[in-house]
Amino acid sequence: MAAAWMGRHCWVVVTWWVLGLPSSLLTVTCSGAPRCPVHPTELVFALDQSRGVTEPEFARMKEMMTSLLGGLRVREDHCPAGARVAVLTYDSHARLLIRFSDAYRKDRLLREIEALPYERSASSRDIGKAMRFVSRNVFKRMLPGAHTRRIATFFSGGPSADAQTITTAGLEFSALDIIPVVIAFSQVPAIKRSFAIDDTGRFQVIMVPHRTDSAPALEGLQRCTFCYDVCKPDASCDQARPLAVQSYMDAAFLLDGSRHVGNAEFEEIRGFLGALLDHFEITPEPETSVTGDRVALLSHAPPHFLPNTQRSPVRSEFNLTTYKSKRLMKRHVEESVQQLNGDAFIGHALQWTLNNVFLSTPNLRRNKVIFVISAGETSHLDRETLKKESLRAKCQGYALFVFSLGPSWNDQELEDLASYPLDHHLVQLGRIHKPDHRYGVKFVKAFISSVRRAINKYPPINIKAKCYRLSSADPQQPLRQLQRYYLLGIT
Ligand SMILES: *[C@@H]1O[C@H](CO)[C@@H](O)[C@H](O)[C@H]1NC(C)=O
Repeated sequence: MAAAWMGRHCWVVVTWWVLGLPSSLLTVTCSGAPRCPVHPTELVFALDQSRGVTEPEFARMKEMMTSLLGGLRVREDHCPAGARVAVLTYDSHARLLIRFSDAYRKDRLLREIEALPYERSASSRDIGKAMRFVSRNVFKRMLPGAHTRRIATFFSGGPSADAQTITTAGLEFSALDIIPVVIAFSQVPAIKRSFAIDDTGRFQVIMVPHRTDSAPALEGLQRCTFCYDVCKPDASCDQARPLAVQSYMDAAFLLDGSRHVGNAEFEEIRGFLGALLDHFEITPEPETSVTGDRVALLSHAPPHFLPNTQRSPVRSEFNLTTYKSKRLMKRHVEESVQQLNGDAFIGHALQWTLNNVFLSTPNLRRNKVIFVISAGETSHLDRETLKKESLRAKCQGYALFVFSLGPSWNDQELEDLASYPLDHHLVQLGRIHKPDHRYGVKFVKAFISSVRRAINKYPPINIKAKCYRLSSADPQQPLRQLQRYYLLGIT
């Protein structure tokens, strides 16, 4: 993956030349400054100032930050090379102390950092929240320009308990092309686990225990992250990639073809779907194999559908065993998928998918995911079914991931549909200031990796009681299987 990403980056740089844009933008060198970073870079540093962090520890964080900055060219005024720097401190809240827009000269920046006061805090450490603050408030939830690198470095004096928020931050960092680095004074298992969702090896956890020399670790960080040249990658930096996991998935995409969706929007969805397919390892033998991913595609909202009639609420584009390769699936998406222009009956479509796609396919994979792409509310005749069927799916161990596109949605409905925790299973592009489908594609890539690595449980423990109630009322629910799951799962 890293290679593909680098490839794209270099290609972009070349295009700039081809287009004849001012080459000074790329070749500019500022007087005598170090040649690192090679690419324009946005750097954030977050210092841990939570309960229990001592004054010498705080001073050590500042020293390390200063030492890292010492080797870097800092961007000054009009010179578009080097690093822009922002600095914050955090405990259970984050405080932005130096902004990108402050644009201090390097000597001034180092003096400001030197002067940051130690403050004793009574609040606990919430590094996940600080991470989300960085993606939302410092990087403003926008993707960077194609030639800019973003690195967010967090110092951590000890472990954080908020694993779920750390995972949310990891998904957002992946989606926004932010490389997070955690420099930790003691073990941080929750962060290590969450960072494994990134399969490029760019997410870093660096241990610098007390009374050890941090210089070798910082040197590696400088060389392989801050000063990394994506066009001339340093081979010695390539080792730390997490091992791929052999954990496969059956996935169904439920595509909104209702009349809520504009023509241009539908074309975008089509492109989006094609890009998502790249994240699967499709098995060449979907009917007989027990390994490899399989994908099905269903369009919903055919015209004139009504509940309790013979009509189908979906058009089955292809099921889990129809195609043997991504290429064939993409071709189908490009050539055959059409907008149906009826009303959305998402609950009925979900019910049909569970019964006709999953339950009738052999060798179901351990991971079963349904992606719902929705551009507006479901029909009022569908609301109860949506509630009931999404709960049934969740209780049967499906993960439900929802994309909400466009300017209208119903919060309650999205919450009923998407799996828990919502932040891992719902992307609302309509809520983002400048919707960018690349964000959605990258988010899903990281989400799929989180499913393969079993970061969340399906079904989640917190719907246990609801699932019991459902299973006693519904003969279709495999009660014994549920009991077994919860008996093993809780302890
Ligand atoms: C899936 O589709 C293929 C044709 O595309 C068909 O032969 C097969 O029976 C379908 N399988 C299921 C489980 O519906």
